[in-house]
Amino acid sequence: MSTQKQVINNFKKVCICRSVTGGTIMKAIREGSLSFEALRRAIRVGTGNCKAKRCRPKIEAQLQAYKESLDPSSEKAPSSKANA
Ligand code: FES
Repeated sequence: MSTQKQVINNFKKVCICRSVTGGTIMKAIREGSLSFEALRRAIRVGTGNCKAKRCRPKIEAQLQAYKESLDPSSEKAPSSKANA
């Protein structure tokens, strides 16, 4: 199911102002744009009318997830929800 979700996210517009999809962002991240500023320079995300208010949190989360997938030592411990 996660690949199906990835395919959907590839076509979803993340930066609505600039019509940049999740797939385009992921491609730029894989090619070495590992910060929001680098992505801004490479594919111009966050340069629309909203000045990244809508897209920056989503892009930062995408960057964080990618970095965590590269570094196995930064894996988060599973959250321990207490059943009250
Ligand atoms: S949604 Fe990205 S700049 Fe507005």
